Order: sequence, then C-alpha cells, then structure tokens
Amino acid sequence: MIFGAIVAGGVGNRMNLSGLPKQFLPLGSSKKPIIIHTLEKFLMCDQLDYIYLGVHKDWTQYAEELVEKYKLKSEKIIIVAGGVDRNSTIFNIIDAIENRHDVSDEDIIVTHDAVRPFLTLRMISENIDAAKRSGACDTVIPAVDTIVESKSGKVVTNVPNRKYLYQGQTPQSFKIKKLKKLYLDLSDEEKSNMTDACGVFVARNELVELVMGDTFNIKITTLSDYKIAEAILGGMPE
Ligand code: CTP
Repeated sequence: MIFGAIVAGGVGNRMNLSGLPKQFLPLGSSKKPIIIHTLEKFLMCDQLDYIYLGVHKDWTQYAEELVEKYKLKSEKIIIVAGGVDRNSTIFNIIDAIENRHDVSDEDIIVTHDAVRPFLTLRMISENIDAAKRSGACDTVIPAVDTIVESKSGKVVTNVPNRKYLYQGQTPQSFKIKKLKKLYLDLSDEEKSNMTDACGVFVARNELVELVMGDTFNIKITTLSDYKIAEAILGGMPE
C-alpha cells in the first residue's frame, strides 16, 4: 500500500500573523485553507490508498471540521495528533498506519509539508517510483545561490562547490519498515540532531534518490512567503 503523510503538527511561530497555525490560513480567491489546497493535490493521486494528516493536538478537531466543510473524500483521510517536532509527527503517523494496516516491507509513505501547497502530481508519482526502486527519495532543486558555510557564525569556514548542492523540498518518500528500523537504530543524540527524515538514511549510508522539485514548490514559512503564495495563485498581495 501507499500512504500519503501530510505533516501539519507545527504552529507557525515564524509567521506570527494570527492565532491560527499557518497551515489553516486562507489562500487564493477561494480562501481555502493552505492545508486544503495541499490535501486536494494528494486526493488527486489515485496511487495513494490513504492520506494521513498529522495535526497539532490542539487542532485535530478543527482539521476534521475542515475536511467535512470542503466535502473531501473523508473515507481516504485519517487525522492523527502530531508530535513535538516534525520527525515525531511522521512517526506518530507511522504508528497510526501500523495500528490500522498490515504493513509489508514494500509499503511506502509519501511525507509532505502541509505548508507546501504547490506540489504537483508529477512529484508525487516520481516519489512513489523512486521510493519503490531505492527505498528512499528526496525532492530537491539545484541550488541557485552560492552556499557559504560558517561554523562560528562570524567567518566563512567553507564555500562548497555549487554544482553539487541542492535545496531540499518535500515530498520525501520511504519504505515505511526500513525508515522505522533505521530510525530506531539511532542513538538518542543522533535522533535529536536529525531534523530531516532523509538524514536517517544518509546517516546509515543508505541510498536516497533525488526527485526534481520545482521553484514554485515553496514552503510557506514567513509572511513574505505567504504573499508570494498569493501571487502564485494570481491573488493581489498587499
Ligand atoms: N511540523 C509538524 N510537527 C511539528 C512541527 C512542524 O508536523 N511538531 C510541520 C509543520 O506543520 C509544517 C512542516 O512541518 O507543515 C514544516 O515545518 P515549519 O515550516 O518549520 O512549520 P512550523 O513548525 O509550523 O513553523 P515555525 O518553525 O515557524 O514554528
């Protein structure tokens, strides 16, 4: 089986716009919440058997009401409480999947940020193919800016060659059992430093295939990203 896993367990501190976590803010002339735009893309993909949503525990009821309000295929959508960080939200979703389904070695999870509403069906289906083939994949775009490393935050310690650098986006997709096994194998220190699920595979020298993303596949992190998202949809940002 193939499961979508949309992570929406954050509260959007950097957006700092209203009491509403950013994934619930209205977007475009339809004023549909960002998370609904994202969910609709996942629902368009017939390859996904179920779509899990990991929502901040104080907002699960609100998310359920939205699914009802927008008349989405609720039989395919399962809402679970998120965790303290992004990886915990992914593992809460995996626990919920394992509680409901008989998960095999080949079953795949397509994880995605709720606040990236502009992913495409092409990205989802290439993620599924790559995860089936290699066990894990990451959606990326080539780095356009030179990336400068500074360990002190004061002086440059390295200028890596840009041709080998990419910016990570999502989806990131994995064979569920393999991700869980590798993660459980990490020390507590490794786990706490692991901000990215693909990092779990890289830490154990396991393959992570690249899938090409798109510059439009932005993550809405700050108010300016929100305005860019409105512009992408043809709205009129103030
Ligand atoms: N996320 C999650 N569980 C958490 C924290 C984040 O599922 N405990 C999700 C967010 O909801 C978002 C995605 O991970 O869809 C990317 O995270 P980010 O943009 O950092 O979202 P927030 O944590 O909400 O933002 P901030 O760091 O500004 O508070």
